[in-house]
Amino acid sequence: MNTVLNLADLEALAEQSLDAATFAYYAGGANDEVTLRENEAAWSRHRLRPRVMVDVSEVDASTTLLGTPVATPVGVAPAALNGLAHPDGEVATAGEAARAGVLFTTSTLSSRSMEDLAGLDGPRWFQLYTHHDRAITADLVARAAATGHRALVVTADRPVFGRREREIRAGFRWPSALGYGNFAPYADEHDMAAITAGLHGSLLTWEELDWLRGLTDLPLVLKGVLTGEDAAAACDHGVAGVWVSNHGGRQLDRTPATVDVLTEVVDAVAGRAEVYLDGGVRRGTDVMVALALGARAVFVGRPWLFALATGGREGLAHALALLHAEVEAAMALLGAPSVAHVRRAHLR
Ligand SMILES: Cc1cc2nc3c(=O)[nH]c(=O)nc-3n(C[C@H](O)[C@H](O)[C@H](O)COP(=O)(O)O)c2cc1C
Repeated sequence: MNTVLNLADLEALAEQSLDAATFAYYAGGANDEVTLRENEAAWSRHRLRPRVMVDVSEVDASTTLLGTPVATPVGVAPAALNGLAHPDGEVATAGEAARAGVLFTTSTLSSRSMEDLAGLDGPRWFQLYTHHDRAITADLVARAAATGHRALVVTADRPVFGRREREIRAGFRWPSALGYGNFAPYADEHDMAAITAGLHGSLLTWEELDWLRGLTDLPLVLKGVLTGEDAAAACDHGVAGVWVSNHGGRQLDRTPATVDVLTEVVDAVAGRAEVYLDGGVRRGTDVMVALALGARAVFVGRPWLFALATGGREGLAHALALLHAEVEAAMALLGAPSVAHVRRAHLR
């Protein structure tokens, strides 16, 4: 881990630690991977405008997300199957996030169940893939609330699976439903093949979102928004958060880099909800660009998985600390002692 100086260093190391199929699953994107590459490349096209002569002897990166205090405006994006990176799966990932005061998003498709995370004392949201069978969706939502999750992140950009040719070439195989901890309670009463088959979001519409809103007191966040139109509609339907994402380039290829649609979404939301973003965030300076454009927080996906696969819990703690240090350094160099100080005027 001493040789890991930044998040980008982790990918090559993870490729050596993981079997080829798992690495392809974690690292790959849809089709030609245009969006996957663009997500990362787009950040480096933005330029910062630092202000000097500001007292930055104390830099505080902490903030609140839907009222929950967090140590940093950088969270852990939901990712399925952390058990392929570490035997403890999400217990390790969420545990290290909790120790660092970082918001963790539990995936519906996590290897470990949400009940396994319930004892961890850290901020957590639950990412929901809705099920054709509304009774199953309702049960997942009730369990999420009962296990300490403070918001529901509804993923909207997976009506069907993106075609990830890297995975296919490498022979990656999805586990059966019992490979996902959250579905174990349904094993007695349901056909397990039907559980995963019924997860397709092809039925997810605004009407379904309204139904979810009536089902739970948890605030809703809509993940996978890439246009001002959908961001405005999400606000009209009462979401508390709009999460700009193209699923890390894993769904519709040729969508723009998320940072390039952030302004459109922030303008459409017009202060009615918090705005988050994920996609290719690897540097503290990327975080500054997102905040300056109006995001409340950003989320990171693959690098945490690569860190866990490479260095276990220690590796993940190292990666979380690295990005945190970069965020604090970037704030100091930008002349922003708190995240509230990062403004549009910090960008050219
Ligand atoms: C291996 C993997 C699994 C993922 N699983 C989910 C998931 O279960 N639910 C979801 O909403 N997004 C999922 N995502 C998308 C991430 O939440 C996030 O949008 C994306 O990884 C961010 O891009 P980044 O990896 O470049 O940081 C997954 C991403 C990866 C890489």
